[in-house]
Amino acid sequence: MKPRFPPGLERAPRASLVQLRSLEAVVRLGSVSRAAEALHLAQPTVSTQLRELSGSLGLTLLEPHGRGLVPTAVGERLAECARAMGACWQAFEDDAAALQGLRQGRLRIAAVTTTEYFLPDLLGPFARRYPGIQIELAVENRDAVVARLRRGDDELAAMMRPPSDLPLARWPFLENPLVLIASSDHPLAQRKRLRLADLLDQPVLVREAGSGTRAVLDEVLAEQGLHWPPRMALGSNEAVKHAVRAGLGLALLSRHTLAADPATEGLAVLPVAGFPLKRQWVLVWRQDRPLSLPARTLLDDLRQRLKVRAKAVA
Ligand code: PGA
Repeated sequence: MKPRFPPGLERAPRASLVQLRSLEAVVRLGSVSRAAEALHLAQPTVSTQLRELSGSLGLTLLEPHGRGLVPTAVGERLAECARAMGACWQAFEDDAAALQGLRQGRLRIAAVTTTEYFLPDLLGPFARRYPGIQIELAVENRDAVVARLRRGDDELAAMMRPPSDLPLARWPFLENPLVLIASSDHPLAQRKRLRLADLLDQPVLVREAGSGTRAVLDEVLAEQGLHWPPRMALGSNEAVKHAVRAGLGLALLSRHTLAADPATEGLAVLPVAGFPLKRQWVLVWRQDRPLSLPARTLLDDLRQRLKVRAKAVA
C-alpha cells in the first residue's frame, strides 16, 4: 500500500520555518536591515535566506520600493502563511508544555466526609489518565476542611457549605439530598407520611460538632422553632448508620451515605414532609491563588463528564 501523506506534505517542503520567519519580518518591517535587527541576525544571513526561499519556490517574493522592500502579491500571501504556521507552532509548544506539566505532579484535594461515598469514583477517570499525578485526598469534617482552605493547604475542596468569608470560586457539581433515617424495623418506618414534629419524641443521633450535616439539622430545627436535643453524637457517617440500625435513634444523613436500597443495610428513609432537604455539593478553590495545571485539568474533566451524565439522565 502506498503511504498517504496529509496535503502539503507529499513532497519535502521547499521552504523552512526559519526562511519563512525572515520573509514575514521583512514584509512586516519593510526592509532587510530592520528585519535582521528584530531577528538578531546579520543582514547577509537574512538576504541569503530570502534568496534561497525565492529560488527554491521559483517566485519573486519582494520588490524594491524606495530604500526598502515591498512584498509582491504572492510574497504577501506567503507571509500570511508564515504567520499561520507560527500560530500553529505556538499552539503546539503550549500543548507540549501543558502535557509535560501533567506528566508528574501533585494535586491536593480536601473533601468533607460524606463525599467519600462518591468522590473516588468521580476522580477515577482523571487518575487513570494521568498516572504521574499523585492525588492526595484529605477527608475531614466541614470545619476541618474550612480550616484547611483558610490555610491554603489544598487546591480544591469538595463540600456542602463553603464559608462565605474566604475569596472562593464555587462550582456546584452534584445534588446532595439529606434524608431522615430509622432502622428498617422501626414503627415509624411503616408510616406513609410524617411531619418533622412527629419525630421529636424519638432519640436523635447526630454527627460530631463541626460536621456540616449536623449544622443543617440544627438550622432546620431553629427555622421551624423545634427542639430536638441530640441523644448521642458520633464521629462518622458509618458510626451514625450503625447506631441507627441498632435501634438507638433516628438521624439526618446525606442520601449518598446509603445503599441504593437502604433496606439491604437494615435502614429506612422516613417519608417526612419537606424532606429530602435539597442541598448541593460544591467544589471550591481560592480565587486569590492560581490553580495548578492538574487542578484545572481535573475541573475541566469533571465539567465535561458531569455534563454528559446530566444529559444522559435528563
Ligand atoms: P460533613 O459534610 O457533615 O461531613 O461535615 C457536610 C458539609 O460539607 O458541610
